[in-house]
This record gives sequence, structure tokens and C-alpha cells, in this order.
Amino acid sequence: MTRLCVIPGDGIGPEVVPVAVKVLERLLPDLQVIEAEAGWECFKHHGQSVPESTLQTMRDCGAGLFGAVSSPLQAVAGYRSAILTLRQKLALAVNLRPVRSWPGLSEKLGVDLLILRENSEGLYVGKEYMASADLAIAERHISRQASEHIAQRASDIARLRGSRRITLVHKANVLPLTCGLFRDSCRKVLEANGLSALVDERLVDVAALQLVERPEEFDLIVTTNLFGDVLSDLASHWGGGLGLAPSLNWGQGIALAEPVHGSAPDIAGSGRANPLAAVLSAGLLLRYHWQRIEQADQLDQAVASLLQEVGKADWGEQTTRRFEQELLARL
Ligand code: NAD
Ligand code: IPM
Ligand code: MN
Repeated sequence: MTRLCVIPGDGIGPEVVPVAVKVLERLLPDLQVIEAEAGWECFKHHGQSVPESTLQTMRDCGAGLFGAVSSPLQAVAGYRSAILTLRQKLALAVNLRPVRSWPGLSEKLGVDLLILRENSEGLYVGKEYMASADLAIAERHISRQASEHIAQRASDIARLRGSRRITLVHKANVLPLTCGLFRDSCRKVLEANGLSALVDERLVDVAALQLVERPEEFDLIVTTNLFGDVLSDLASHWGGGLGLAPSLNWGQGIALAEPVHGSAPDIAGSGRANPLAAVLSAGLLLRYHWQRIEQADQLDQAVASLLQEVGKADWGEQTTRRFEQELLARL
């Protein structure tokens, strides 16, 4: 039996997640779904953004699907973003964020890249403090262990994808210690895995420009946490934008699928949310975590066929419902 912990979250999360669950149920008849709570509404009810019971359900299932959660822009005592808590407590150390062109929808064909974002450290270690009334400091942690770990994952994925290039993205000209350690640790592992010939590197500012000008030249991008966050939203443009951008938080024997988008309060409740980012995230669970390649291919083909036919349609308030219907009809 395949078990899945489903965490709808806030805003459009509870609108898009059921579509992805229906798709998974169609592809995996033995799927057992267990719902769990997390997010801002959960914090308001229970005083915790991720209750211990949710972490336990995730550990028991070994796989999860997360919608999106809202976070206040100002610090709130006792609150930490649910997704950051889940990543940290479940040691989901790598975040996979693929971007590909969809014929019928994308402005540019031939884009097929995968951003591997370090997911456990960097500027996300949560060590931010006021050193004095006029000085705020954020620590950036880069460890050899986490850098080697992501490079090992990159090696495995490069083989699986038949990658033609692995681009390490950093800012070692300004941050020679942190970015230098990241770059050198990654290079060492990639070299040990016989992949030196594929390795390339870019400073993050240049990488951003090239992702706009020549996205088709990238294949596998390996980068630190905040750079990966920013570049993945940027690159998602070529895959149809945030409504179509999937991701997978990946640990050891445990994974949490999560659309790149947030809770989209501006459209929540309107029926306008595109569920395909959540659906494609579920596809990453199939492909990389459960290794159900046939079902993952089936899902991708259904999305491709759907976008080929209706890619630029504007269904307004029927968007979530119509995507669900059209997709299920193709599976
Ligand atoms: P957002 O991703 O929620 O929305 C950005 C824009 O994209 C909005 O105009 C929104 O309507 C649109 N959009 C996003 N997803 C869409 C979809 N599936 N279909 C159609 N349009 C979509 O980012 P934001 O507005 O900066 O953040 C809103 C809230 O979400 C904040 O509280 C933020 O902290 C949170 N957030 C959560 C996550 C997460 O849970 N993983 C990620 C990013 C932001
Ligand atoms: C993402 C989001 C999160 C991040 C936020 C909501 C904490 O933007 O998954 O990309 O910064 O990682
Ligand atoms: Mn982000």
C-alpha cells in the first residue's frame, strides 16, 4: 500500500490539493490518504503551525503533499512558517524544482531544466537578530556535509536525466568562504562520481540574466537555499508561471511534494487557482520518491496533452474545476 500524508494548508491550498489527490488516486489504486493540518489557520487554532501529530503522520507515511500556507510579513511570537518547519524537522535537505516548456502554452520551446535547491541551511537557518537597535544580522550557514549531500543527489539525478550540463550557481566572488565551500564540496563529489566533464559554474547574478535570455542552455542547476528560491520563481516563467511550477522537498526515505506558489490570498475562494502546480508536484513524488516511472510519465503526458489543447484558455472562476475535469478525462 502507498501512503500519503495530505496537508492542504491555507488559501488556495485546500482548492488545488484535492485535484492532485484525485489524480494520484486514479494512477495508484492502492493509495491510502491521511489528512493532516499545518499553516497559519492551524497556528491560530492550536498555537502551532505544524503540530507534532502532523510530523508523526508524515514520518509514518514517508510521503506527503502540501498545498500552501500563509505567513504574516511581520514576526509573530511563536510562529514559524509551516513549510520551513516541515523541511527542517523532517530533514528534507534537497528541493527539486523542474521547469519545462509546454507546447501550446509556453512562450519559448526547448526549456527543460531542473533546479536543485539546498533546502536545509544558507540564510534559512533562522538565525536573525538585532545586534543593537540599529543593526540587524542574519547568519548564513553553509556546511560541507549539506553541500556534499546535494551534490550526491545531483549526481544521481544527472544520471537519471542523462544531463548534458550541471551548473553550480553561487556568489563566491563576494562570499568566498560560504559560497566557496559550497562550490568546492559540490565539485569534489561530482568529480568522484565521474561527472567533471559536465560541471560548469555561474555567479548568481549572471545566472539570473541567462535564465531570462537563454533558459534552454541550462539543464541541472545546483545552488544554495535563497538563490534557489529566487531563481526557481524566475525560471517558472518559462513553464507557464507559478500556477504550473512544481517542487519536491526530498529527504532520506521521505519526501514532501509542494507547489512553488503560495496561498495566493488574492484569488483564494474564486475558483481561479490553477491546480496543475500541485498535480505536477504529485508527479515528482511518483517519479523520484516512489519511482513509479510509468505513472509519472502518464501524468506528464496527460498534462502535456491538456495544455496543448487548452493551454491559453481563460476559464475564469471555472479554472480549478475545468482543469480537474480535463485532466481526469485524460487518465
Ligand atoms: P503567491 O505564490 O501566493 O502568489 C503570487 C501571485 O501568483 C498571485 O498573484 C497569485 O494569485 C498567483 N498565483 C499563485 N499560485 C497560483 C495558482 N495556482 N493559480 C493561479 N495563480 C496563482 O505569493 P505571495 O502573494 O507572495 O504570497 C502569499 C502568501 O503565501 C504569503 O503569506 C506567503 O508567505 C505565502 N507563501 C507560501 C508558500 C508555501 O507555502 N510554500 C510559498 C510562497 C509564499
Ligand atoms: C518556497 C517559498 C518558501 C521559501 C517560503 C514560503 C518560506 O517561497 O517554497 O519557495 O522561501 O522557501
Ligand atoms: Mn519561493
